[in-house]
Amino acid sequence: MDGRMQRLKLRVPRVGPLWKAVLVFLAVAVAGQLLGIFFSRSMQAARPQPSLSFTSANSPELSLGSCQPQTHVMFLKTHKTASSTVLNMLYRFGEERGLRFALPLGYQFGYPLPFNAHRVKGYQGPHVMEYNIMGNHMRFNKVEVEKVMPADTFYFSILRDPVALAESSYAYYKVVAPAFKRAKGLADFASNPQRYYDPRLRNNHYARNLLWFDFGLDHNANFSERLVKKGEALVHRAFNLILLSEYFDESMVLLRHALCWPLDSVVSFSLNARKQDANKRKSDKGSGLTEGLRQKLREWNALDWHLYVAFNVTFWEKVRRFGKARMAMEVAKLRTRREFLARICLRDGGRPVEASRIRDKAIRPFQSGPVKILGYELQPGLDNATYQACLRMIRPEIQYKDLLDAHQFPRQIAIARGNPLRLNPQGRAEHKRTTVGQGVTYGMSLEPSRNTSLEEGKGPLR
Ligand SMILES: *[C@@H]1O[C@H](CO)[C@@H](O)[C@H](O)[C@H]1NC(C)=O
Ligand SMILES: *[C@@H]1O[C@H](CO)[C@@H](O)[C@H](O)[C@H]1NC(C)=O
Ligand SMILES: *[C@@H]1O[C@H](CO)[C@@H](O)[C@H](O)[C@H]1NC(C)=O
Ligand SMILES: *[C@@H]1O[C@H](CO)[C@@H](O)[C@H](O)[C@H]1NC(C)=O
Repeated sequence: MDGRMQRLKLRVPRVGPLWKAVLVFLAVAVAGQLLGIFFSRSMQAARPQPSLSFTSANSPELSLGSCQPQTHVMFLKTHKTASSTVLNMLYRFGEERGLRFALPLGYQFGYPLPFNAHRVKGYQGPHVMEYNIMGNHMRFNKVEVEKVMPADTFYFSILRDPVALAESSYAYYKVVAPAFKRAKGLADFASNPQRYYDPRLRNNHYARNLLWFDFGLDHNANFSERLVKKGEALVHRAFNLILLSEYFDESMVLLRHALCWPLDSVVSFSLNARKQDANKRKSDKGSGLTEGLRQKLREWNALDWHLYVAFNVTFWEKVRRFGKARMAMEVAKLRTRREFLARICLRDGGRPVEASRIRDKAIRPFQSGPVKILGYELQPGLDNATYQACLRMIRPEIQYKDLLDAHQFPRQIAIARGNPLRLNPQGRAEHKRTTVGQGVTYGMSLEPSRNTSLEEGKGPLR
């Protein structure tokens, strides 16, 4: 593993290097699963003697067989939790099956305003159309989501340790959240958050209880046992499954079995990881924070911390019911598959590279704020079907959303053909031009041409 790369969103300090390795492979494996169908037909011909033999996607190993795959799925895409990797899985699953996505007008559903059904592109009223998958950023609002998604929708989301999340949030949002901007660094912020935090200022939600905020709860409320129990109960009622970033592979196994999806649908390469700078990676914990400051961040984000602890209990209870030995086997299978697919799909053994080094615009990740977002390059010489399947696994979020949008709303693209500058009403063409070469901030360059809201299509993506 390249020690310079931190798969930050998924970091577990205690098992750092091993986890990093696992993540890379995991990511690779997810991608691979999707490819199973293609590989079984095309790979032997395409590549000289792959060292592993393939199984067909219909074999019991890859599909769960006896159940019906769930095709009504809502994913609350929380910030800084590996959720871009999850969204890629949903995009692939839906694209391969021609499912209909509830897509935002821009790239988020009016975030940070609470979700409203009218944020869904083409929405014509409650249940007029059957939507299969919804997963772009929003501030959750159950009543409105239920107008869009069918009654039997499977709801899930993902949480992450609030200390690691604060670290990641700081790295991404230090230029947009006033509370972060005012502090001299994360340690300074953590030592006395109250000093820098004004709840009235826009974008400060990134600096306090961001998970609560994303779940639609009051992230500025004063902590009390009663309140956290209430929040927990609300999340329990609204969501079928809550995953944990720190246990991403176990999460994918639980998800797969809950949805009855084939293995390849939950094998992925880690997307939207950021590059860690040199001095940070030297410290044990990754963030350079002392235990005292970490504790302060837990207190500052007490609502998130309690939510996380509560759903950690729930998570391991689900694993216990699933069977610990069975889980270990399934996780191993997933990792093997990821490694296999990484070898097939990814150049340089799947080592993530800086966006500026990726020549193909279709797979160059957009850059967000001061952080370098890493991407992948595909193996040269793949046959078409394999190439397409590999491409799906590494296609960055923005490009993928544009592609699905174009599938679902072909008319606009046809009209736009003659005029590349108007290719996309939310400013895609404009953005593409500005990001060629180096890391222009996504949030700053992407301006929606229609005024759907303060935030639509604007602001940091993740
Ligand atoms: C939280 O408690 C403090 C006093 O302890 C109070 O001044 C403040 O208004 C409370 N905030 C909320 C949102 O209730
Ligand atoms: C999460 O649960 C596991 C298993 O019970 C436990 O070892 C770990 O300490 C828990 N983590 C937190 C943050 O509560
Ligand atoms: C490659 O595959 C894609 C998707 O399977 C298909 O749409 C396209 O026509 C193929 N291109 C060629 C050159 O075969
Ligand atoms: C866009 O928003 C600005 C500021 O809210 C407003 O002044 C302007 O009229 C809006 N334009 C359109 C086309 O709605």
